[in-house]
Amino acid sequence: MGPLSAPPCTQRITWKGLLLTASLLNFWNPPTTAQVTIEAQPPKVSKGKDVLLLVHNLPQNLAGYIWYKGQTRDLNHYITSYVADSKIIIHGPAYSGRETVYSNASLLIQNVTREDAGSYTLHIIKRGDGIRGITGHFTFTLYPKLPMPYITINNLNPRENKDVLTFTCEPKSENYTYIWWLDGQSLPVSPRVKRPIENRILILPSVTRNETGPYQCEIWDDGGMRSDPVTLNVLYGPDLPRIYPSFTYYRSGENLDLSCFADSNPPAQYSWTINGKFQLSGQNLSIPHITTKHRGLYACSVRNSATGKESSKSLTVEVSAPPGIACLPVFTPMQ
Ligand SMILES: *[C@@H]1O[C@H](CO)[C@@H](O)[C@H](O)[C@H]1NC(C)=O
Ligand SMILES: *[C@@H]1O[C@H](CO)[C@@H](O)[C@H](O)[C@H]1NC(C)=O
Ligand SMILES: *[C@@H]1O[C@H](CO)[C@@H](O)[C@H](O)[C@H]1NC(C)=O
Ligand SMILES: *[C@@H]1O[C@H](CO)[C@@H](O)[C@H](O)[C@H]1NC(C)=O
Ligand SMILES: *[C@@H]1O[C@H](CO)[C@@H](O)[C@H](O)[C@H]1NC(C)=O
Repeated sequence: MGPLSAPPCTQRITWKGLLLTASLLNFWNPPTTAQVTIEAQPPKVSKGKDVLLLVHNLPQNLAGYIWYKGQTRDLNHYITSYVADSKIIIHGPAYSGRETVYSNASLLIQNVTREDAGSYTLHIIKRGDGIRGITGHFTFTLYPKLPMPYITINNLNPRENKDVLTFTCEPKSENYTYIWWLDGQSLPVSPRVKRPIENRILILPSVTRNETGPYQCEIWDDGGMRSDPVTLNVLYGPDLPRIYPSFTYYRSGENLDLSCFADSNPPAQYSWTINGKFQLSGQNLSIPHITTKHRGLYACSVRNSATGKESSKSLTVEVSAPPGIACLPVFTPMQ
């Protein structure tokens, strides 16, 4: 390792994540000993990961060392120190709880944050050196952020089992690996899912009502970045309607209250017919005090104009004659 390493801009700079990369800085030049250098491992660190600042060619017979954040050796920037004789570690005001100094002077920083980027100073104290010591700097470089990916879809309101959906993850780059998520789970490889073009485009030949999402795409290049979730409005139905209550025998004078329901998105339009004759629009049909003349075939028709589908269900209502019809006057309400 040379005293002056390549500056980071000549390295592969395509990594667009929050990157802390190491620029190696030789920091002092003792005439007789080998160059002391610091190296970050791994050289490219993403947020939340750990980085070890490896110290190479450390001189022998040291009294200890102190790590500072930044370029100055003032107390406020003192992170941690190691006293060789007593093997004691002493933390300073700049210690975040995530730094560990080893006996070989290397510094481990766990769960790296944006604020960890920047320079570090290592102060090495040789025996008999008093407080003078030797100082060197080392700098983390903050790389441009990995862009927030986003999804474009050819149709946000697909019809169930009908429309082909094409999801595209943006931005496009040959440097990214693309991953798709549905409901927080990595999309399983299924024959239904076609993934041409490097996984950046996801094709669903059809979609069902419970595949509304949320869908997310993720780009990977050392670190990962996930898009905002996208939810589909799957248009479906109406399913076969159900009529409540389902019993069909009534006695004269009872109230007939029928309700019709069909699962549909958007909600179905309802209408009722009695013996084929249009009765009313709406979900509910009510006839108070029915008589035998209300016998017949009650049908509920449902329609969804967004899917263009229709369905219907019918019920044959029987009405028994009241007992003693010959003797009792029967009041039949006018309809
Ligand atoms: C220093 O110690 C750490 C922790 O034991 C180790 O990972 C690292 O490789 C050591 N550094 C050198 C230069 O040997
Ligand atoms: C890393 O730091 C973040 C933000 O401070 C915190 O929310 C997270 O729990 C930390 N993770 C670990 C593994 O310590
Ligand atoms: C992808 O990486 C190559 C070199 O590795 C670089 O030239 C190119 O600009 C990168 N593309 C994007 C979109 O970052
Ligand atoms: C909804 O998902 C369940 C469980 O995966 C499946 O059994 C059911 O058939 C799906 N319903 C529709 C209408 O696709
Ligand atoms: C129809 O009747 C049912 C059951 O009584 C009720 O829950 C529903 O709100 C009614 N619907 C309309 C549109 O009035």
